[in-house]
Amino acid sequence: MYILIKNIKRYLNEDITIRGWVHNIRSSGLIMFLQLRDGTGFVQGIIEKKQVSPFQWKQAQKINQESSLEVKGTVKKHPQKKDIFEIQINDLAIYQIADKYPIGKKEHGPDFLLDHRHLWLREKKQWAIQKIRNEIIKATYGFLWQNDFIKIDAPILTPTSCEDTTTLFELKYFHLGKAYLSQSGQLYIEAGIASHNKVFDFGPTFRAEKSKTRRHLTEFWMMDAEMAFVEHDENMETQEQLILYIIDYVLKNCKEELIILERDIDKLKNIKSPFGRITYERAIKKIQKMGSKIKIGDDFGAEDETLLTQNSKTPIFIEKWPKNIKAFYMKIDPKNPKLVLGSDLIAPEGHGEIIGGSQREDDYEILKKRMIKEKIPIKEFQWYLDLRKYGSVPHSGFGYGLERLTGWICGRKHIRETIPFPRLINRLTP
Ligand code: 4AD
Ligand code: MG
Repeated sequence: MYILIKNIKRYLNEDITIRGWVHNIRSSGLIMFLQLRDGTGFVQGIIEKKQVSPFQWKQAQKINQESSLEVKGTVKKHPQKKDIFEIQINDLAIYQIADKYPIGKKEHGPDFLLDHRHLWLREKKQWAIQKIRNEIIKATYGFLWQNDFIKIDAPILTPTSCEDTTTLFELKYFHLGKAYLSQSGQLYIEAGIASHNKVFDFGPTFRAEKSKTRRHLTEFWMMDAEMAFVEHDENMETQEQLILYIIDYVLKNCKEELIILERDIDKLKNIKSPFGRITYERAIKKIQKMGSKIKIGDDFGAEDETLLTQNSKTPIFIEKWPKNIKAFYMKIDPKNPKLVLGSDLIAPEGHGEIIGGSQREDDYEILKKRMIKEKIPIKEFQWYLDLRKYGSVPHSGFGYGLERLTGWICGRKHIRETIPFPRLINRLTP
């Protein structure tokens, strides 16, 4: 019977067939140990000379790392390791004998690995990261759908900027002139709330970020959520619940993957409600005392974010930012006209900002004045202003970066490992 490696436990002492790739080989004369991989898991297969025909033994000698094959055999318990199963192979058919595999056991530099990303994705840790990324996506959809959000997608080709005009990718768009790749679907899904109340999008977003940090990609995946009748505090509560749900889901469904990644699971288990909340001003004062040179009015750098969370088990919301360092759409704090009701959620362990969110300005005149002052093109954004003319309601939303979130949960230093084919300032291939 053809089975998947992840289900092998169910077939103790039974004869089964597996199709996959050879991850690794050890051989000692009369016996070969194959580390097999089929995409759902890893298992050891044993070929003994005396158990197979002379022809099959000869075939087996040709196998090398990454050869693809089908093996038949009996499922056995590992003689020493509890809960580990292996296959006593009695038959094999080769799909292809691989060329000499470029990724070896020795340490390779990041550039070499990224040049071979199409192959590196098979490596055990890289496999585990993509599996966890997939579970984070599943958890996100699960949480949002259970909580009555409707998925309503935003366009990728847009006539203007959503976040920051300095990080736009520009392209020619027929006779209409210029188009830009979207930086976030937020503005569009704001239109969706009057139709569906709670909405979200999930898709690729683009930023021509000149920064070469371990947290920046030029193409990354963002989930934007937007909620009618929700104000600043409830916006943060929803973000907190979503993150708790995702962490819990990954802890339940990705035990093997977290072990492969040597992730300190206690750090994830310790993430509990309530997350820390600190105003921008208090956060600045706090990290100044810890040695940061940051001043009121500055944005937080990566080191500042790390400082702020260094003694915190949970992520921390920095809320109520100066309006001049945040986007035009954020609602002014009714208690202080210099501030906006925005929040950044900062992950612990130095992983930095994972979510940006805010209550949105819902007053037509206030928003328009602000846009004029910030030289936002009114004509292209008239549709967005219109939303404040026909049944405007208080509303809020947020967006997470999937790769930042995956990087944190997987405990990976550089987010380039969390997307299958990273796009960086100096990398467009493979
Ligand atoms: O904080 P940002 O810029 O917020 C927005 O775009 C809002 N419109 C979202 C919303 O309110 N719906 O980006 C959101 C998140 C960041 O917190 C970060 O996790 C991620 O997107 N992000 C990046 N991830 C990888 N590479 C980059 N260059 C990123 N820029 C932002
Ligand atoms: Mg942000």
